[in-house]
Amino acid sequence: MFTPDMLESIKKVEATRAERMKTEPRRMTAEEKETLLKAYHPDFREAGFAEIKIGPNKGEKVPTELGHLLHSNSRLLNENIDLNKVDYDVDVLVIGAGGAGASAAIEAHEAGANVMIVSKLRIGDANTMMAEGGIQAADKPNDSPVQHYLDAFGGGHFAARPELLRRLVMEAPDAIAWLNKLGVMFDKDEEGNMVTTHGGGTSRKRMHACKDYSGAEIMRTLRDEVINRQIPVVEFTSAVELIKDTNGRVAGAVLLNMETDDYMVAKAKTVIIATGGAGRLHYQNFPTSNHYGATADGLVLGYRAGAPLLYQDTIQYHPTGVAYPSQIFGALVTEKVRSLGAMLVNAEGEAFMHPLETRDVSAASIIRECSDRGKGVTTPLGSGVWLDTPMIEILGGEGTIEKRIPAMLRMYLNYGIDMRKQPILIYPTLHYQNGGLEIGGDGFTKTIDNLLVAGEAVGGIHGRNRLMGNSLLDIIVFGRNAGKAAAAKAKDVELAELTLSHIEDYAKALKEAGADTGDVSPLLLPKYARHER
Ligand code: FUM
Repeated sequence: MFTPDMLESIKKVEATRAERMKTEPRRMTAEEKETLLKAYHPDFREAGFAEIKIGPNKGEKVPTELGHLLHSNSRLLNENIDLNKVDYDVDVLVIGAGGAGASAAIEAHEAGANVMIVSKLRIGDANTMMAEGGIQAADKPNDSPVQHYLDAFGGGHFAARPELLRRLVMEAPDAIAWLNKLGVMFDKDEEGNMVTTHGGGTSRKRMHACKDYSGAEIMRTLRDEVINRQIPVVEFTSAVELIKDTNGRVAGAVLLNMETDDYMVAKAKTVIIATGGAGRLHYQNFPTSNHYGATADGLVLGYRAGAPLLYQDTIQYHPTGVAYPSQIFGALVTEKVRSLGAMLVNAEGEAFMHPLETRDVSAASIIRECSDRGKGVTTPLGSGVWLDTPMIEILGGEGTIEKRIPAMLRMYLNYGIDMRKQPILIYPTLHYQNGGLEIGGDGFTKTIDNLLVAGEAVGGIHGRNRLMGNSLLDIIVFGRNAGKAAAAKAKDVELAELTLSHIEDYAKALKEAGADTGDVSPLLLPKYARHER
């Protein structure tokens, strides 16, 4: 239910609708975008960042909250872990059980490796599950991977690592075919062709979707495949430190049973970090669309072991998080709502931007509207602008919302808001980490043998901003490749003696730099987690 002030503003939105629908708002010029980003995007707020004091990225910028974790010590520093008492001994250890981890495990298993997944929560508790709008792939006659590359490269400010982005777009059609074969129920027309739509910054309609729960449907399918293959999944168990061997190669991980607090040793010839994002660190106090466990654990584990980060200072704020009602503050309102025709409209009923600008530009534009321009709608937790959802029914015909975005419709109906008849209030929400651990095209980190990274924990695939639908894609493409590469590598690995000496070296470096926070990391659960038993 909306407040009286909101209802007054809705009248203005309704009054301008017919006129607004006659002309599409113009796109911003490159110069306008740059000026806007520098003035309003949170990545440019110096106060939100710290300097990294030690390690491979020393001297570079990092979000303050992630910097705190990088400047904290291992929880094993004063523990006596017997590395000769091995609890698990595998070829491939996958840390993380979202889409990237599951895809990696499936392919490693397919290649004949002895693979195990460890997850601090349950299989599928991941940002994959939260993904709504779809997955990109240039698999239609009017499209090509080159076109896909150009869209993503431009959208990412020309900063994507070419070898990674090339792989992403070239292997996208096969990723869709693989998922389709595994049983993902993609939206199809009566002839069985995939239904595709635009996303922000796409020049072709290449967004494949499963209504507005694409990630949940993909995760359901991958989870079934992991279970059918009887791949071991050790749940409620966190990887708290990578283990190395005396030759400096990664050799497994120390695991923490989250229920009993017991430590265990998992020895592995190769390790894949697939731990996902960082939304639950709530950079700059933003709410988040991320799942409960998104606390950047993999970045901390990798960095402490000596793997460099790339673009750790660039974060994606999804333009349309829920601004109201407060109970679902920060939850994702899929970009597909705009792909289907809803305009972004301020409190005065004005369409202040093209609805399908790239995400960083859209988020900055909404922040400007609600701050300096004073044209936001006041909410109990701040402010927001309108997403004029009744336009979808006008443009696509009655029933379009129920057919194409039923989960969104249901979410709002739970709070007495019928988005078919009334617009909804949105504001940017912390959605994705564009940066992460640096890898080569083969999925291995560049500096540490036997260590691979896949999914949101990777930096460089998308550059400094990601387009919608390229994350569900990257978890599949880079997850599958990591699984294959890890299985192949494991065949030749002979490990030397296991050691945790790198955590002592790290502690020494922190002390010498005067940077030790006195805390421990990785965080594992958000700061507001309840720990009572
Ligand atoms: O808007 C969305 O549905 C989100 C998609 C994505 O982050 O790729």
